[in-house]
Amino acid sequence: MTIEEEIKKRRTFAIISHPDAGKTTITEQLLKFGGAIREAGTVKARKTGNFAKSDWMDIEKERGISVTSSVMQFDYAGKRVNILDTPGHEDFSEDTYRTLMAVDAAVMVIDSAKGIEAQTKKLFQVVKHRNIPVFTFINKLDRGGREPLDLLSELEDILGIQSVPMNWPIGMGKNFQGLYDFYNRRIEVYQPEDDERFVALDEKGEIPAEHTLTQNPFYAQALEDAELLQDAGNEFDEEAVIAGKLTPVFFGSALTSFGVQTFLETFLEYAPEPHAHKTVEDTEVEPFNPDFSGFIFKIQANMDPRHRDRIAFLRIVSGEFERGMDATLLRTGKKIKLSNVTQFMAEARENVENAVAGDIIGVYDTGTYQVGDTLATGKLKTAFEPLPTFTPELFMRVQAKNVMKQKSFHKGIEQLVQEGAVQLYRTYTTGDLMLGAVGQLQFEVFKDRMEREYNAEIVMTPMGNKTVRWINPDQLDEKMSSSRNILARDRFEHPLFLFENEFALRWFKDKYPDVELMEQFSV
Ligand code: G4P
Repeated sequence: MTIEEEIKKRRTFAIISHPDAGKTTITEQLLKFGGAIREAGTVKARKTGNFAKSDWMDIEKERGISVTSSVMQFDYAGKRVNILDTPGHEDFSEDTYRTLMAVDAAVMVIDSAKGIEAQTKKLFQVVKHRNIPVFTFINKLDRGGREPLDLLSELEDILGIQSVPMNWPIGMGKNFQGLYDFYNRRIEVYQPEDDERFVALDEKGEIPAEHTLTQNPFYAQALEDAELLQDAGNEFDEEAVIAGKLTPVFFGSALTSFGVQTFLETFLEYAPEPHAHKTVEDTEVEPFNPDFSGFIFKIQANMDPRHRDRIAFLRIVSGEFERGMDATLLRTGKKIKLSNVTQFMAEARENVENAVAGDIIGVYDTGTYQVGDTLATGKLKTAFEPLPTFTPELFMRVQAKNVMKQKSFHKGIEQLVQEGAVQLYRTYTTGDLMLGAVGQLQFEVFKDRMEREYNAEIVMTPMGNKTVRWINPDQLDEKMSSSRNILARDRFEHPLFLFENEFALRWFKDKYPDVELMEQFSV
């Protein structure tokens, strides 16, 4: 197979969801279909810490780095699938957002009883910003939930994305009978026997008259809904899907593996192959460019205090990686031999020999790399555009515990902030240091690394949630600062306000209607 054919096989995506919607469960089902794990429960057990260590990558055992769950790779239907994990719960961090910079598509898992929840919304905003395709899986139909039509309108109302259902539930919860599959023109009957599971529809879109479902009131209801959707709903439009303007919606139950295979197959049919990536000069590097290139989107520090090493996650943008090859780190111009590199198969745990555009490799790092770095070979000399920084919501004041150790304290902060571990701010006049993060874990990792890597103990004082807005320096008047906000500077000296809450922000806007406040990405 040529490299170009290899690249075309790649499908690299992340699953976004709110905790408990079923991301782990569906990931396991996908890995099972891909033959990457034998038993459902493997990923789950890992999540809860019950997993037999011996089953995971050597590197993880040796160095205690959790890498395997970060990227999972398997083959299915002639495609090489890379799933990137986007941690939720307390693991939520800027890395979670940055991971979305390294994928070509996203799968959004929604709990049918809960609809769109906070974390899904946040992650979706990041995905939307990139205009990449989003596929939706509405989960837990076996348990019953909200009206399917309501769930579709929520996608539009809350997320602002048009949807097109690919299948439709026949009953829900106790009355769950199966799925009316518009796309494959068949019914997936909710029963365990696989061979009887799929029943083809006739030209009228109905199942054979002798099938027991025809007597079922929920089937009649589904037919009615199907008709309504055909008349009033959106049509499937591949271009709109690829542009991220229309999300195909699949209903199902991950736990009972119902609707998952249909989802996977349809997803792989439409999910895009690796895309070109923009450079700082506004040119694009195509995946088929023969020169190897990639960017680092995440650096995972080793949580084991006995080791200082890290893994830098690199998304290959073009060409082929070969073990032992030399690449240039464009930020420094330094040539680096890429020999200690891992790839991530759920069960095969080998050092990677080669990988191509679309794949993710883990480069062993002793402090060489920063988030956003470009590695390239040959004629590629222009770095990829920097990764956006994400507006933090949680803040801490930070000080050195030991005043005698100011030097290592400042060095540590400078390096870790540069690396993208947390964001740093200073109060405008007094210069007190504040850290910002999108999740609590970032602070913990920061503290731990300051102690281990820089021998600098720190004291952090929680400031809670804040709403951040940058202000045009020309419009800034220090008198605008009040008890409801903190005037600060970011590390590029840009002025900003940390508002106590949305109310304080509104109050400010009312008081200074002409002042321009800037939110979200400070790209
Ligand atoms: P997450 O990774 O998104 O946080 O969710 P996870 O897959 O861990 O699922 C959260 C809970 O929802 C789990 O139950 C899981 O079994 C359940 N779940 C996932 N998919 C389905 C589904 O299709 N139907 C039903 N009924 N439940 C589903 P738990 O009680 O928290 O954990 P456990 O008892 O399975 O360990």
